[in-house]
Amino acid sequence: MLSRQISTQRLLLRRFSVEDVQDVYEYANDREWQRFLPVPSPYTLEDAEKFVASTLLRDWSEGPKFAVCLDAKVVGETNIRFSAGHRIGEVGYSIARSLWGRGLVTEATRGVIAESFRVYPQLVRVRAAADAANVGSLRVMEKLGMTHEGTLRSNMFYKGQLSDAAMYAVLRDEWEANA
Ligand SMILES: CC(C)(COP(=O)(O)OP(=O)(O)OC[C@H]1O[C@@H](n2cnc3c(N)ncnc32)[C@H](O)[C@@H]1OP(=O)(O)O)[C@@H](O)C(=O)NCCC(=O)NCCS
Repeated sequence: MLSRQISTQRLLLRRFSVEDVQDVYEYANDREWQRFLPVPSPYTLEDAEKFVASTLLRDWSEGPKFAVCLDAKVVGETNIRFSAGHRIGEVGYSIARSLWGRGLVTEATRGVIAESFRVYPQLVRVRAAADAANVGSLRVMEKLGMTHEGTLRSNMFYKGQLSDAAMYAVLRDEWEANA
C-alpha cells in the first residue's frame, strides 16, 4: 500500500481530512479551474464537503488520493487508481489557479508515480487522460515522461459537450531509464 504521506521538494502530499473542506472550496470555486473537469459549476461548499468525504471513503490500496499541501494549506490534489492487480495505474491531478505554471503538479504527480513503482513491483504502466484542449495537462503528462499513445474522439462528456481525450502513458522501464 502507498504511504499516506509523501514529501517532495516543495510539497507535502497527505490524506485529506474533514478540516480541508474550506481550502478545497477556495481553489475549486473558480470557473477556470473547473473548465476541463467533470465537477459542478458553480461549485459550492457542499460540493467541497462531498469531495472530501468521497476521498475518505476511497479504498487507499486501490485508489489513494492525496491532498497537495503548500505551506500547510491544501492547494490541490493528485491521485492514482490501480487496476489489474496493481499492474496498471491511472493518475489524475489539479491545483489552484494562482499556482499554475510553477511545476507543482508535475512535482506532486511525479512523487506519486515514483512511490507507486517502488511499492508495487508488478506495476508496469501508468497512464493519464486529458481533454485534448487542456494544454497545461498535456504538458504535465509530457514532463512526466509519458508518451502520447493516441486520442479518443468524442470520448468525454461534461459541461454539455463532447470532447476528445488525449491518452498518455509511461512504462516502468521508461520511468526507470529517466529516473
Ligand atoms: C493542468 C494543471 C493540472 C497544470 O498544473 P501546473 O501546476 O500548472 O503544471 P506544471 O506547472 O507542472 O506544468 C504546466 C505546463 O503547461 C504549460 N502550460 C500551461 N498552460 C498552457 C497554455 N495555455 N499554453 C501552453 N502551455 C501551457 C506551462 O507553461 C507548463 O509547462 P513548462 O513547465 O514547460 O513551462 C492545472 O492547470 C490545473 O489544475 N488545471 C485545472 C484542473 C485540470 O484541468 N486538471 C487536469 C485534468 S486532466
